[in-house]
Parts: sequence; C-alpha cells; structure tokens
Amino acid sequence: MAKFKITVVGAGMVGGTLAQRLAERNFADIVLIDIVGDLACGKALDIAQTAPIYGYDINIIGGDNWELTKDSDIVVITSGVPRKPGMTREELLEINFKIVKDVSEKTKRYCPNSVVIVVSNPLDAMTYTAYKVLGFPKNRVMGMAGVLDTARFRTFLAQELQVSPKDIFAFVLGSHGDTMVPILSYTTVNGVPVEKILPKDKLERLVERTRKGGAEIVELLKTGSAYYAPSAAVLDMIDAIVFDRKRILPVCVICEGEYGINGVFVGVPVLMGKNGAEKIYEFQLKEEELSALRKSSEIVKKLQDEVDVLLKKYA
Ligand code: LAC
Repeated sequence: MAKFKITVVGAGMVGGTLAQRLAERNFADIVLIDIVGDLACGKALDIAQTAPIYGYDINIIGGDNWELTKDSDIVVITSGVPRKPGMTREELLEINFKIVKDVSEKTKRYCPNSVVIVVSNPLDAMTYTAYKVLGFPKNRVMGMAGVLDTARFRTFLAQELQVSPKDIFAFVLGSHGDTMVPILSYTTVNGVPVEKILPKDKLERLVERTRKGGAEIVELLKTGSAYYAPSAAVLDMIDAIVFDRKRILPVCVICEGEYGINGVFVGVPVLMGKNGAEKIYEFQLKEEELSALRKSSEIVKKLQDEVDVLLKKYA
C-alpha cells in the first residue's frame, strides 16, 4: 500500500494533537500547515523527535508553505478561531468563514484530489463553505461532529451506568449545535435499548449535557475549546478512509433528499471508506426524532444562507 499523505491545516490544539495521534498510528506522512509557520514547524519537529522513542517512521513536516501539502490524499481543516466562554458556535461564523474560504481555495489548488474533513466551527456551515469553494464531489467534503458528539453521549451514558463505554452504541445526528439529535431509539448497551434501562428524566439530562458538551469544556478550559476527543474523532474518520473500513459513522455531509432534507449539511449515518463519505444510510427514525433532525437542518439552512451572502460579499 502506498503511504498516504495527510495535511492538517491549523497547528492549534486540535491540529497539533491530531498530528500527534496520526504519527503514533504510523500510516501516513503528515504535513502540518499554519499561517504561523514557525508554530507548525515547531510542533512538527517536536512530533518528529518523538519518533525514535515511539518507534514510528513516517515523515512529518510543518510550515506555512502550501507547496508542502501538494497532492495530499486527505486534508483536515481545523483552522479558525475557537469559541470564548459564553460564545455560540454561530457567532464565529463570519470570522471563520474568511479563514475556511481561504484554506479551501488553497486546498483546491494544491490537493485537487483530496478528501476534505472540516473541523472548524460553526461546523455545518463551515463544511458548506468548504464544499462551495472546493467544488469537489459531495463524497469528498465532510465535517467532523457526529463522532465527537456521539462519543460524548456514550461517555456520559457509560459513567451513569458504570459500564465500559465500548459497550454503549449510539448515534448523535443533526447539527453540531444545540439542536443536535441523540437518537435514543438506536442507543443501546450492547444491544439492550437504553430507554429500557434508564428513566426518561435521567436520559434527558444526559442528552442535554451532550448538547452542551463542547461548551462545558470551553467553560472549564477558560481559553480554547476541546481537542483530545475532537482529534480522536477525526482520526476515527481518517482510519475508516485510509483502510477502507466501511464504517457507519455519524458524519456531516450534504443531504439531497435523505431524511426529507435537501441541500443542507447535517450529521447523518454515513458509510465511510476509501472514497470518503460513500453513502448516506437512511435508517427509519421515530417521528419525533425525524422532526428534530429536520428542525436541526433548518437551523443549518439559515446559516448556509448567511454563508451564501458572505460568499458574494467576499467574492
Ligand atoms: C466542541 C467543539 C470542537 O464541540 O465544537 O468541542
């Protein structure tokens, strides 16, 4: 197997931690890019110097020169400003729009055949921004949110039930925002429906904590937002692509009729393999879950409309 080349754009905490996680897996050469070239260079050098101790032999380089990224197979966009305490992801829209637009233009130029994973917030709207600017087919542009939101929900359930998080299966769909939709009807403890194990009010509290999962960490950290779980979630998606695993993961992709949603980027169950987001699975949902998913997509649609205005403004 030819070695993969993966570019991580943004050498902040998510990007840096992702580069470290990737290096430790030893399956791809890594380029860490940042407008602050020295930061990317320093982190890449630090990770490279870990190789003799950890025993990996991939190449990792960093800098601000996009030539380094040339013909990457996968590009992860983490650049952007993180939320400050009390700030919603949506308030970040215009600031991060400009950043994601610029990065997408460069990605299109230097890595025209790449699969692109967006992590910048507000996630769904930034994924839409990248999609519009890149002009890539829809299977090659996606956002990371569902794997993270689902991991948070599984963690809270595992802690509540005092069981291994590995045995909790769940799907958190919808927007990566307050309207995200944990699908309780498909949430099980090793196949046993969680709704049969936990009382409704307790479940609702865990759902609410999941919705606010990112903000809880922002409040605690005081500066910046979460990065350990977000970077692990991106790695899970990359692993599915690189090894063509055909995983079914909750991923933010454009729906074109699925779940009755049209032209909107939102978290849905996606078959992930070597071609990226290969197929959307349309599982039968309960009426209230389906309507919550559609409602969530309507919120994203409003942000996409704002992105359309920004695309004209900064054309
Ligand atoms: C979070 C940020 C990354 O959910 O959106 O932690």
